[in-house]
Amino acid sequence: MQSQASVAEIRPENYRFLQEHVYSQVGIVLEEDKHYLFECRLAPIVRQLGLNTIDDLCTFLKGNCQTEVGRQVVEAMTTNETYFFRDPAQYEAIRSVLLPRLMEERQQTKKLRFWSAAASTGQEAYSLAMLLIAQGLSDWDVRILGTDFSSQVLERARSGKYQQIEVNRGLPASLLVKHFRQSGTEWQLSEPVRRMVSFETIDLRNSMHGLGPFDLVFCRNVMIYFDAGTKKSILEELHRTMFGGAWLLLGGVETAFGVDEWFERQTVQNATVYVAR
Ligand SMILES: C[S@@+](CC[C@H](N)C(=O)[O-])C[C@H]1O[C@@H](n2cnc3c(N)ncnc32)[C@H](O)[C@@H]1O
Repeated sequence: MQSQASVAEIRPENYRFLQEHVYSQVGIVLEEDKHYLFECRLAPIVRQLGLNTIDDLCTFLKGNCQTEVGRQVVEAMTTNETYFFRDPAQYEAIRSVLLPRLMEERQQTKKLRFWSAAASTGQEAYSLAMLLIAQGLSDWDVRILGTDFSSQVLERARSGKYQQIEVNRGLPASLLVKHFRQSGTEWQLSEPVRRMVSFETIDLRNSMHGLGPFDLVFCRNVMIYFDAGTKKSILEELHRTMFGGAWLLLGGVETAFGVDEWFERQTVQNATVYVAR
């Protein structure tokens, strides 16, 4: 029987090495108390490589950080949780406040641009697409960009295929019936919704030159993993990609402090929005 990778075998210097590896590759800060995470997420990689312990994996990685295994380790340590219409108050504010305003302001160009930064497996971008379709924007030029560091999650996002458990989370039954068809054990999202969204691999810590301008940016449930300096420089870059008056939406537990220069925090109905100055 193959031996299990045991957390007991992560030496302190290897724990630090893994923290530094993940931080340098993706900017995520993993605290001292994440041993259990390392254990359950790295054990499959350890076994796949025919190694015995996470310490062995570290020894292998030390000379091979920039390899596929190095990337697999980072992807394994990244939280990809997402679901349809997460934080419904934000979607309601978009539907009832932002969209009517944009539809008036963009009457001439009939062009709208949205960005789901840290899109994970695509539920956020596709929720917005379904919401926009319901607003009857069929003669408008509407595009949603979904980006993420991880090409693995984006591959799934592009496929538009979801498991039963995923469509059970947050997606109203009416939208499931309208936009998906069952295909074996999965649900396939319809072409009209998929066509509105394109996905690209982008590390949020890199320059965002050439992106935008956007009318709305989702950057939700990713900032919590960054340190204050990284957060601030990402918010500054995001601001550069946005029209004045565009909305930035963060995750429920995230806040943007010290960015008054770029954003004004407002409460719109039950949602907190950061309006680009
Ligand atoms: C918890 S998910 C959030 C998904 C979605 N925004 C939501 O709120 O439901 C966080 C995502 O951030 C991505 N991520 C982490 N660090 C990143 C970085 N430096 N650049 C781009 N994406 C990153 C991860 O790959 C992951 O898919």
